[in-house]
Amino acid sequence: MSKEMLALARTVRLRAHAPYSKYRVAAVVRGVNGKLYAGTNVENIAYPVGNCAEVSAIAAMIADGEARIAEVLVMGPEGDLCTPCGACRQRLREFAADDLPIHIADPTGIRKTVTLGELFPMSFGPTILKK
Ligand code: THU
Repeated sequence: MSKEMLALARTVRLRAHAPYSKYRVAAVVRGVNGKLYAGTNVENIAYPVGNCAEVSAIAAMIADGEARIAEVLVMGPEGDLCTPCGACRQRLREFAADDLPIHIADPTGIRKTVTLGELFPMSFGPTILKK
């Protein structure tokens, strides 16, 4: 994990559009190409239309032509262990395997590092349809 991922997350988290929950989240994914893609949560007055930070970061990666994730950092407010929600675990699984490192951070630094397999065991992943 690079200091660069943390610094980027700190910066973009403050740009989150979270006027309803007031819960700002940043996600930074590193593609296997080595590039970093950042995103924030984007809420909406029609509450179910909002999206998680992971959605924004993954969209930026895909638009850049990368489709494999090497590493992820998710940053919530200070003191919180902001783990990816269930839907985002499935979204990450689309572009990575069980060994994907997920760094759970707050603005002061990394609080915990886990793998996708630990957070999301026995997942329904894209390899299922490739048999
Ligand atoms: N949220 C994320 O962006 N990522 C997560 O991993 C957990 C939750 C957002 C969604 C919503 O805008 C706010 O946090 C409160 O649930």
